[in-house]
Amino acid sequence: MLSTKAAVNRAETVAARFREKFASEPELWARAPGRVDLMGSHTDYNLGFVLTLPIDRDTWIAARRTDDGIVRVHSMNLDASDEFRLDRIASIAESRWCNYVRGVAAILQSEGFALTGCDAIVHSTVPMESGLSSSAALECALTTVFAGLGGWSLTPERKALLCQKAENEFVGVKCGILDQYSSCLGRRGCALLLDCRDLSTHAVRIADGIRVVVCNTMSPRRLSGGEYAQRRAECEQGAAALGVSALRDVTPEMLAARRPELPERTARRCAFIVAESARAESLAGALRAGDRPAVARLCAESFAGARDLYEICSPAMEAMMEAMLTAPGVIGARQAGAGFGGCMVALVDAASAHAFRAAVGDAYRGATQVRAEIYPVEAASGAELFNVEEITK
Ligand code: GLA
Repeated sequence: MLSTKAAVNRAETVAARFREKFASEPELWARAPGRVDLMGSHTDYNLGFVLTLPIDRDTWIAARRTDDGIVRVHSMNLDASDEFRLDRIASIAESRWCNYVRGVAAILQSEGFALTGCDAIVHSTVPMESGLSSSAALECALTTVFAGLGGWSLTPERKALLCQKAENEFVGVKCGILDQYSSCLGRRGCALLLDCRDLSTHAVRIADGIRVVVCNTMSPRRLSGGEYAQRRAECEQGAAALGVSALRDVTPEMLAARRPELPERTARRCAFIVAESARAESLAGALRAGDRPAVARLCAESFAGARDLYEICSPAMEAMMEAMLTAPGVIGARQAGAGFGGCMVALVDAASAHAFRAAVGDAYRGATQVRAEIYPVEAASGAELFNVEEITK
């Protein structure tokens, strides 16, 4: 990890909070990144393709083993703490954050991993509730901590699947594999083309001169819980009507021929997923080759489909899209995450990234009176332990 001034400050702040809360020094540090999807909205639970970028906004956990079988965790971002016994893990109705922590511990134990009690401080630079997978970053960093303290290891693939299981079964969010896979399998400098059926990944190096810029609408993802489950159910209905186990098995030709058999809304949902999954593969090729016209076209098609076919856009997203598309240096722009607000993503000419940022901020504020957060991101490595002394020395 790079020893920048920001990283040194962050490490010192987290260590100071650890001392204040637990009157001791942390013995182990872990980190796991958030992600931004470059193409492939909602394709993961349809077993299609996603092009994802694990980003240099991440969650850090500083921890120390205890021998009383109790997990004590404090989140600096929320200024909230949780404490539970490993032999009695129950979910908490009023706190989703606590349930991510408890869910990871419960699932790891149910899979036979030996956990030790611990004191831990969590600090994240992944914005919450904004579509950049802050929850997956927490789950994956925490699993890394438990493995490090317990003296066992597991592959990044297994780690991702267990974290997804914690979210599906303990937290009760039926997410796909995208977020946890991105957070565990990241590689510095590369986007990943993820095949959600066989869970293989291919590293994609984005051509020089193209930067990824995240543009946060700052509008919370309202309704996304219910709407997400509804989209998922509609896709399952479409797959069942077409006689396949997942929309991954539907080709554009097959959909065109059988579309009249489907209810109109189901047909639109299916049309989006089938095209979006194909676009993820196409965008991987276009970004590798630096084919800017193809990047522009694929992103525009994705946003139009998200708006008209999958209906996951909001007025704030439309305003941000307008701001991104009229800013200097833009190559392509689209939604990110589940939609319904949150962050969007632009591919921008590297030399214009500064001007892009300023222009998007001004235009979005002019249209909505809201100050957006806009930041270029870099591809980061996946969940891992790290040596804090390499940062602070
Ligand atoms: C959320 C889910 C993911 C994925 C995206 C949409 O981030 O957690 O599994 O479905 O939405 O692509």
